[in-house]
Amino acid sequence: MAILVTGGAGYIGTHTCVELLNNGEEIIVVDNLSNSKKEALNRVRLITGKDFKFYQINISDRKSLTNVFEENDIEAVIHFAGLKAVGESVVVPLRYYDNNLTGTIRLCEVMREFGVKKLVFSSSATVYGQTEQMPIKEDATLSATNPYGRTKQMIEEMLLDLYASDPSWSIALLRYFNPIGAHGSGLIGEDPNGIPNNLLPYISQVAVGKIRQLHIFGNDYPTGDGTGVRDYIHVTDLANGHLRALEFVRSSTVVEPFNLGTGQGYSVLEVVQAFEKATGKHIPYRVVERRPGDAAVCYANPKKSLKQLAWQAKKNMEQMCVDTWRWQQHNPNGYESKQLV
Ligand code: NAD
Ligand code: UFG
Repeated sequence: MAILVTGGAGYIGTHTCVELLNNGEEIIVVDNLSNSKKEALNRVRLITGKDFKFYQINISDRKSLTNVFEENDIEAVIHFAGLKAVGESVVVPLRYYDNNLTGTIRLCEVMREFGVKKLVFSSSATVYGQTEQMPIKEDATLSATNPYGRTKQMIEEMLLDLYASDPSWSIALLRYFNPIGAHGSGLIGEDPNGIPNNLLPYISQVAVGKIRQLHIFGNDYPTGDGTGVRDYIHVTDLANGHLRALEFVRSSTVVEPFNLGTGQGYSVLEVVQAFEKATGKHIPYRVVERRPGDAAVCYANPKKSLKQLAWQAKKNMEQMCVDTWRWQQHNPNGYESKQLV
């Protein structure tokens, strides 16, 4: 039986597909390529030496999704498909609510129709909002502060309701902290459209000469050096968390949230220094105003994931920087770069 991976052509999806295939799982990928390229899936095939079916569909399209379930024997779903840019979600909230909520509702309806009730869902640490409790535990109050985050919070609530109505479902709600890094091959990585919003893609585009300097959003936070602190996690560690979550939903019928983070916070300046040290590239920067909505500090308590999923992050900041840089250096224009490593 196969694992259906929605949004499997995206950043975290491709890395998870690699780990799934390397672990002998059969996968089917669906993605509408709204924020990804088909080439990413070719690279997954290249890394693993394995093939899989790909359907270019919108998961909100019931007919196309039903067809995927009709044509394949699906055991469980890992659901990455969604829009994820916080700033954009403030500008076009309805697009976010429509895509993320409708897509997930359609998916769950079709899953139910075919008796597929094992689901691993991509949630986000953004559901915790501006909580003061650090490190953050899964039982912290949820209070997302932007439309994107609210779509994740609403989906979590919807899935809790779904489970309450039918406890034969088994659902893992994975709350990712800050995924960075790339596969060690340098063949797949994060390929943002336009100017990156997130710190590591921005730093690596400065390093490769596409952007002149980094803007650090504020150095007057109540942190050691005044810059924001986050829990950065290597995308391969994160991908492996999905394999453990898959085992979890296979062996239980519950709905549970899990933090996927390292438990360690790094400030923006510490990340810049780590990147410079790991890559030998100088990163010029300028401190500018705080970015509205940014928390000072955000890092996970990952103990529940260790206890119940037998998972913990293994890769350190140096590896995250080295792998980010390898991907960026060999693919300066992301998946449109011709050169293969
Ligand atoms: P991504 O944009 O690279 O991947 C998402 C994929 O979903 C893309 O390939 C996109 O084309 C596809 N997609 C979007 N809407 C779709 C639809 N309606 N039908 C079919 N395909 C659709 O993002 P990512 O970084 O890989 O994130 C994956 C998931 O993890 C997302 O749900 C995101 O919200 C969540 N997440 C990401 C981060 C992060 O920092 N990257 C943090 C927390 C949570
Ligand atoms: N930062 C800068 N300059 C930049 C970009 C970021 O100084 O150009 C700073 C931010 O102020 C913050 C830190 O770097 O202190 C990290 O910012 P990111 O934008 O990389 O990440 P966020 O923590 O803001 O948010 C990310 C995702 C969200 C997700 C959240 C938690 O964008 O979708 O992690 O998982 F919800």
